[in-house]
Amino acid sequence: MSKTVVLTGIKPTGMPHLGNYLGAIRPALQMADEENTEARFFIADYHSLNSVRDPATLRSYIHEVAAVWLAAGLDPEKVLIYKQSDVPETFELTTILMAFTAKGLMNRAHAYKAAVDVNREKGQSDDHQINMGIYTYPVLMAADILLFDTDYVPVGKDQVQHIEMAQDIAGVVNHNYKKDLLVIPKARVDEQLMTVPGLDGRKMSKSYGNHIPLFSPEKKLRKTIMKIVTNSQGLDEPKNPDTCNVFALYKLFADVAEQKVLAERYRAGGMGWGDAKVALFEKLNAEIGPMREKYNSLMADPSQIDAILADGSARARKVAAGTIRRLRDAVGVS
Ligand code: ADP
Ligand code: TRP
Repeated sequence: MSKTVVLTGIKPTGMPHLGNYLGAIRPALQMADEENTEARFFIADYHSLNSVRDPATLRSYIHEVAAVWLAAGLDPEKVLIYKQSDVPETFELTTILMAFTAKGLMNRAHAYKAAVDVNREKGQSDDHQINMGIYTYPVLMAADILLFDTDYVPVGKDQVQHIEMAQDIAGVVNHNYKKDLLVIPKARVDEQLMTVPGLDGRKMSKSYGNHIPLFSPEKKLRKTIMKIVTNSQGLDEPKNPDTCNVFALYKLFADVAEQKVLAERYRAGGMGWGDAKVALFEKLNAEIGPMREKYNSLMADPSQIDAILADGSARARKVAAGTIRRLRDAVGVS
């Protein structure tokens, strides 16, 4: 029986935060451990080029994202980890897919439409600061996915439309050549998965600036946690854990018994917000402390990361070459 292929990519646009870890990285690694599964996780560096225009910054973000995967437990012997830009077959497939992608489909992409809406609100022309990389983003993403005969793509809700577009485009190709040339991928969105709240209680996101970077130094992590917004209740007042940002984050790391203990301290009164934040910091630091050490040792010598990525890319290209051969034959350029 052939294995189920699970693939996902992360754009290197900065150090991943707690929301990325709990909402994407940790569940993807759990999925990679499932029976009969072949996992492929990559760094979507050309997707970042739409917004990251400084070479040293991009290089550093690539290392950071790779180091986060590795520190979070990705075993490169078992899981293929590579950089999108190191698999040029991606770009050949993109060119093929472009010919089968309706322009109207791209017009409907949420991310593109949101950029147009922002322009309209600001009284700019629709196309202001929108490049073809943003406009055709879903085609490159479809190529990432279809190149590896992917069955499942674990993603957040915001990415589901992109997976549907990959399905559409693959369907058009298959229909034209009257055979199942491309595997139709499915999104795997975990409905149970929490939306991790940020410092201000809204969804944690880089774009809101309310995020907790996954591996900042211990002192800095502590400082960031102290910034979590709470209400103005005094030390003695009983507090409600269910409406508290600190407790919401604590719950994501603590077991049921630990949650109960802290919830009782909230309700009893006599516990200030500072104490609740320290409890959160300690819990969080206990889980990510060992990973942070691994992360720091990788970042201290990024050549280790480069070697792992180079090996992953070489293996990825072997798989990719098979798909491209199949497509070249089918379309008539071979
Ligand atoms: P950001 O909003 O910070 O730019 P991304 O959109 O790059 O984050 O998200 C990358 C991945 O992390 C996606 O799969 C997304 O669903 C997941 N993710 C991001 N923020 C959160 C969050 N607050 N809670 C849960 N998952 C999240
Ligand atoms: N667009 C995804 C994001 O912003 C990143 C990505 C690029 C991706 N290519 C992919 C995710 C292929 C899954 C599969 O999060």
